[in-house]
Amino acid sequence: MEEKGPFKITDAEELAICTCMQSNHWPLCDGSHHTLSGDGPDLIKLDKTKTYYFCGCYKTKNRPFCDGSHEKKNER
Ligand code: FES
Repeated sequence: MEEKGPFKITDAEELAICTCMQSNHWPLCDGSHHTLSGDGPDLIKLDKTKTYYFCGCYKTKNRPFCDGSHEKKNER
């Protein structure tokens, strides 16, 4: 399986971050928690003037933000 790197978010004031780990658009909530169970997303506030990089590989230790873990090989 190919790992995804971070994705860039700009011009956003609030995002719903998945906490159930079942979203097909992780780290963003896609509503899957309604049908697959889960507590629902965490709503996070962002500064609309800033650029953010969100984790796309599930390895970050700073969820939902990218911490560079996708570049590390053979580390857990
Ligand atoms: S899909 Fe996971 S919290 Fe909504």
